[in-house]
Amino acid sequence: MSKRNDLIEELFVGLKKKESSKSYLKFGLQSNPFPIAGLPSSDLPPLDPKIKEKIVHFITSTYRNSAYGGLTIVGDYGSGKTHLLKYIKLTIDKLTSEAKARKEDFSAITCFVDRPEDSPQRVVHKIIDDIGLDKIRKYVWMIIIDKLAANKENFQKQFGPRSSLVVRSSEQWARLFNEPTRANYLDFLEQFRELNGDFGKLQEAIREIITKNIVDDGALADRYISIILFSEEKESDFSWDVLAGHVSKRDIQHKEIVFLNSIVDILRKVGFNHLYVFVDEFEDIGKLSSAKKMNYLLTLITLINKSSHWSVIVSLTNDVLEEEIKQEPPLYDRLTTTKIWLKRLKYSDGCTLIASYLNLAREKPAENSVCPFNEESIRRMIALSKGNCRSFLVLAYNALEIATRQDAAEVTPNVVESAKDLRGI
Ligand SMILES: Nc1ncnc2c1ncn2[C@@H]1O[C@H](COP(=O)(O)OP(=O)(O)OP(=O)(O)O)[C@@H](O)[C@H]1O
Ligand SMILES: [Mg+2]
Repeated sequence: MSKRNDLIEELFVGLKKKESSKSYLKFGLQSNPFPIAGLPSSDLPPLDPKIKEKIVHFITSTYRNSAYGGLTIVGDYGSGKTHLLKYIKLTIDKLTSEAKARKEDFSAITCFVDRPEDSPQRVVHKIIDDIGLDKIRKYVWMIIIDKLAANKENFQKQFGPRSSLVVRSSEQWARLFNEPTRANYLDFLEQFRELNGDFGKLQEAIREIITKNIVDDGALADRYISIILFSEEKESDFSWDVLAGHVSKRDIQHKEIVFLNSIVDILRKVGFNHLYVFVDEFEDIGKLSSAKKMNYLLTLITLINKSSHWSVIVSLTNDVLEEEIKQEPPLYDRLTTTKIWLKRLKYSDGCTLIASYLNLAREKPAENSVCPFNEESIRRMIALSKGNCRSFLVLAYNALEIATRQDAAEVTPNVVESAKDLRGI
């Protein structure tokens, strides 16, 4: 018989404890609320009220004036940049959905791009990819059907079969513009075919609507047409892959400005007044070769200058902002119309963080209580983490685990020391 593996036995005991989650209850907690690896998982607000003020200023000024704005978030690794980007994105999304319910004027769309990629063109592809095929189809169709409906009295005459054995009534043609057919392009096209409508003519009319209202560029217009008209064919998937940048095709290369404008136009025509693009880890452009980087920065300036009704929110480390982006003052100015600097945590920030995470797991939220952490333990965590948000939270996670495991009455500096040893920092 094989010897029992002690580590396995110990793990089973540990896993059982975690499963019951009863162990946290003596601290009034349902679970350990701290992020285990210090990655963004909650939507807790920024710690500094000045940051909130800046966010309000940025959103209101860009939205009200329908103008470009650049918000840059700088901070060290683990200082909370991604967390803040996600928080601002969520705020804008909530504002849009609540404005609808409250009949207020705010309707914006947000896109999140994880990294700057190697060209602004790829960022533009990512924007459309993030919105998604279904939504883009729906929005493009809304524009097309509105234009077709404007001339619905003549629709049968214009697109009906010249000679047909089956004479269709005009009611059947009129039904194309009634709901639910009107809103559903698949239904519409199916019924149009059943009525023996002239598909070639319809395609031409749609092409004209797209070139007049969305994008005056043949190659891009073709892609938009094909995702609607040939939606069940391979051609549509291919066009989507081209638009979303999954495959690269020469015919739409170096067209980032027309492309971005077409996305903004589609969104505006269906009621979204502003596009907010979030780009995380913008410092990665520092890794590009100098020719690529220069090209990137110059294209981005043009993109910002030539396209309106959109704004950019980027996060990056201070060194890349001050050493690389500052080399291009026009871009630096455009990216930093508002700047937020995430500083190292102070003791009071540590207390706020601890209390707000604990409240996530408390049955009854207890305002500013940091219990079971005592004051000294928080001071120790600030010192050990050097005020770095991620290190601080990972220490808090491990400290709470240890306190629970050891059945300690509270989290003391000694428990924090053990948490530090556990992580090996
Ligand atoms: N205001 C906050 N409230 C609660 N948690 C926060 C807050 N700010 C940051 N955090 C948490 O701190 C941890 C580190 O944050 P984040 O990952 O956003 O840092 P980062 O600056 O993006 O790091 P990196 O440079 O490595 O990408 C995450 O768990 C995040 O949820
Ligand atoms: Mg990050």
